[in-house]
Amino acid sequence: MCGIVGIVGKEAVADRLLDGLKRLEYRGYDSAGICTIDHAAFDRRRAQGKLRNLAARLIEAPLAGDIGIAHTRWATHGAPTEDNAHPHIVGDVVIVHNGIIENFKPLRDELIADGRTFASQTDTEVVAHLIAREVEKGVPAREAVAVVLPRLHGAFALAVMVLTEPDVIIGARLGAPLTVGYGDGENYLGSDALALAPLTQRIAYLEEGDWVAVSRERVEIYDRDNNPVERPIVHSGASGQLIDKGNHRHFMQKEIYEQPVVVAQTLGSYIRPLEGVVALPDMEFDLGSVERVAIVACGTASYVGMIGKYWIEQFARLPVEVDVASEFRYRDPVLLPNTLGIVISQSGETADTLAALRHMKSSGVTTAGIINVPTSSMAREVDLLLPTHAGPEIGVASTKAFTCQLAVMAALAVNLARAKERLSADEEREIVRHLVEVPAAMSAALAHDEEIEAMAPAIAQARDVLYLGRGPDYPMALEGALKLKEISYIHAEGYASGEMKHGPIALIDDAVPLIVIAPSGPLFDKTVSNMQEAQARGAQVVLISDAEGIAQAGEGTIATIEMPKVHPLIAPIVYAIPVQLLAYHVAVAKGTDVDQPRNLAKSVTVE
Ligand code: F6R
Repeated sequence: MCGIVGIVGKEAVADRLLDGLKRLEYRGYDSAGICTIDHAAFDRRRAQGKLRNLAARLIEAPLAGDIGIAHTRWATHGAPTEDNAHPHIVGDVVIVHNGIIENFKPLRDELIADGRTFASQTDTEVVAHLIAREVEKGVPAREAVAVVLPRLHGAFALAVMVLTEPDVIIGARLGAPLTVGYGDGENYLGSDALALAPLTQRIAYLEEGDWVAVSRERVEIYDRDNNPVERPIVHSGASGQLIDKGNHRHFMQKEIYEQPVVVAQTLGSYIRPLEGVVALPDMEFDLGSVERVAIVACGTASYVGMIGKYWIEQFARLPVEVDVASEFRYRDPVLLPNTLGIVISQSGETADTLAALRHMKSSGVTTAGIINVPTSSMAREVDLLLPTHAGPEIGVASTKAFTCQLAVMAALAVNLARAKERLSADEEREIVRHLVEVPAAMSAALAHDEEIEAMAPAIAQARDVLYLGRGPDYPMALEGALKLKEISYIHAEGYASGEMKHGPIALIDDAVPLIVIAPSGPLFDKTVSNMQEAQARGAQVVLISDAEGIAQAGEGTIATIEMPKVHPLIAPIVYAIPVQLLAYHVAVAKGTDVDQPRNLAKSVTVE
């Protein structure tokens, strides 16, 4: 999950390549590099760490050349050092790579036995050597790449330049995205349309196994059998503007605050408040024929799936299975006829979720996708696209995408219920009334920001933090724990509150804060009993509830966070706010890199 940009330009490319990398930094920020061809030779700059380090290096030592490739890395093979940073040069060949070459070890052994030496620990350098070996035999650049591609197993996107054909960038993809951009007298390659947005809006998406030779005048695309093919050129619609933080200290904070607006925007395209109905985009299949639902996603998006299970089962009375995508694809899932497969993804590029989607489609399952990036692979491949309108999410920790996904999931659950004749028009109207209240309730939740900030330094001292919830608040507990651990590096776990007695309660002592998510409602008393069992053992409880819940159970807690009183259906969307704010302020108190936490990347395009 790295980012790739390539430009075969009419004029100098280094600055534009760097700009493209800025748009791709969400894919990885361990190291970055650019290589151009200048006066028939490679010239390369690389830097460990964030892109700003590469930018600084380019100021000290600018790069000339009107053709070049660039890369931002999330390390898979080899530590995030400068030696392992891409581009990798071997003889007359330079390469950047996104993905994993799974058979790199036998290939590397073969190359070493052939007397070749390696300058890095990466799987990528193996590909550079394989191509260079062909080029050294006099094989033309394109043929050299075409000969090597079938030897590579795994998922990858590549961009290659060869000095024997210095006006061409050769790209290839299998299991990782690569797009071709068409310019005026120049052409481009990029991991996504966003990277190329300021350069061109005319984009072709390469298909699995395709490879391409991009020169100034021509783009020649071949399929995996080396037959010339055409791929449609589409208008990407991706914005060329670089997004800034506005008045906020971090993107994550800005994105938390955007939620009332973007959730309203998202809901606006699914509900008709005046008529009191929920409506999905037009579709070619009948939701009434659905007999079961399989939801697949990763991380935060998978918690939306878990909440969706509660909703779909409750409203539509359909059985729902939820899987994390990395497990789904390898456990040979049983997909019965009339299953609706749902994938949920902010990026639309998460490798495991994409593979799960393809598995469902190849099993004959109709698929729907709740996806934020409309140009993504998943958005293009699902049968029914259910877009979220969160706008670009830059902070690595997902916030506004999560609540927008919940909004769409609620709309989908209601549609399924109506299609299955489980919901009367009055009941639907009632649900729409509650959904309309969400943005205002989210704004009311945001008003507690300062209180939450004030309690953060105490939580920041903890080594472990536990989150508890019941029903749809159980996935919220998982989400709270994930958010806290990924940006503050504090160990945190979420539990279904009823499970505490079955083991986790042994962890409780007065040094372990217990965050309890408990809106008043049918499950409140049960959650509070579990909370009190923990309190009796010294737990330091922070209770997130409404005024009624806090009046009933706030005593003996170290802090309370008061949410507006909302219907249990919409509670997960509203309660996401304090959970996100708590993680955010704890991370700020700890001084971590909130928007780009260590070891992570925004889009996980490797397994
Ligand atoms: C956590 C987070 C991740 C993503 C996960 C799936 O804050 O952002 O857990 O939710 O990597 O990513 P998408 O939604 O792009 O498929």
